[in-house]
Amino acid sequence: MRINFTETVLRDANQSLVATRMRLEELEPVLSEINKAGYYSVECWGGATFDSCLRFLDEDPWVRLRKMREKMPDAKLQMLLRGQNLLGYKHYPDDVVRKFVQRSVGNGIDIIRIFDALNDTRNIRVALEETVKCGALASAAISFSVSPVHSLENYVKTVRELESMGAGSICIKDMAGIMSPKQAYDLVKAIKESVKLPVIVHTHCTAGLAYMTCLKAAEAGADIIDTAVSCFSGGTSQPATETLYYALGELGFETDLNINAVKRVNDHFLPLRNEYFKSGLLDPVVLTTDSDCLNYQIPGGMLSNLISQLKMQNAMDKFADVLEETPKVREDLGYPPLVTPMSQMVGVQAVQNVLSGERYKNVGNEIKSYLRGEYGTAPGKINEEVRKKILGDEKPLEGRFAEMLPPLFDKTKAELGGKARSDEDVLSYIAFPTVAEKFFEKRLEREENITTYTIERID
Ligand code: CO
Repeated sequence: MRINFTETVLRDANQSLVATRMRLEELEPVLSEINKAGYYSVECWGGATFDSCLRFLDEDPWVRLRKMREKMPDAKLQMLLRGQNLLGYKHYPDDVVRKFVQRSVGNGIDIIRIFDALNDTRNIRVALEETVKCGALASAAISFSVSPVHSLENYVKTVRELESMGAGSICIKDMAGIMSPKQAYDLVKAIKESVKLPVIVHTHCTAGLAYMTCLKAAEAGADIIDTAVSCFSGGTSQPATETLYYALGELGFETDLNINAVKRVNDHFLPLRNEYFKSGLLDPVVLTTDSDCLNYQIPGGMLSNLISQLKMQNAMDKFADVLEETPKVREDLGYPPLVTPMSQMVGVQAVQNVLSGERYKNVGNEIKSYLRGEYGTAPGKINEEVRKKILGDEKPLEGRFAEMLPPLFDKTKAELGGKARSDEDVLSYIAFPTVAEKFFEKRLEREENITTYTIERID
């Protein structure tokens, strides 16, 4: 029996616990240690890193990637990509998706984990094919959710399709941390029996299930689990690398992990974590267990969102009604997984339905786009009556939304002119226009300051 580990401290743990605020200079000294620790892969880029680097850290995300590549020459560097949405929630045309994949691999990424919130494989295909074409490993992820249509049969069907598309591994991505040990066991087993690919399990400790879930997943034959070094584990983050190494090792699982190196990695992050506690960047609340989501079948983040919406409107007395309405809205919409952005959309709609006294009287633009099919195909059947009430006789989209979008890369590059110094800059701009533009300006200022300084010194 073997099990391997993907270390998430650089990306998901960083994102889940400290809002991706760790700076490259804080990470850099430990990278050579991570490089030697025998992880299956190191998740270090994508997701919110890109946005956070540009917006808050005044850091070029591409420079961060190249630095990590340089300091971790042996490790497999992994990134997270939201299929046709890349790093955000908007759909991009295919030329941008392909270019983004090309430059990610070109700058050092080995594995791209690609997912779509609705598990619509059409939103995964272009990124997946391009990843394979670039010689990297495409790890196709299925978003885990619980609903009548999220059955083992449907997951297996999706996974088979992803295999035929060229996926090199399958990840079960439980971003809300709601997957129970039994669900993990059954799902891993079903996938292992249907495809020949390595299976990875990604979950969060939010609801307190993750250690048990990983254990049962390993017993069912999972090949890789996502974990974070202990001082950045738990709560909304992943379970601890060292703890699962210990527990699974005792049960006879062999790993490639160099536990002494892992310890040194943890030693590096411990004082940083303590600093984040002190500065308030790391809120102890995110490290606690939140089991409400198990009672309500609503992810923790979404629940607190509902509460804050109701408080803002002075309507906490309607909380029970909203809790009852939320699963109904989800059913009407064909059971989208309650993850960003669907969780917010469903939540806002449920609150609207209750407070306005009439269901679907007020409907946001996002829900309209969703009902038009712009996000992809819903996992289940959309309630036709609801669709009619909101969109009238408008027909839903036939093909894939991204096909209707004209190519964007060359056009943007031409428009940016000298502001963008590389194709990477153009991609930063396409992903986060306002933030990237500010970053470019600051970068220029910084360089001018350095030049002046140098000249003064020479004089
Ligand atoms: Co995650």
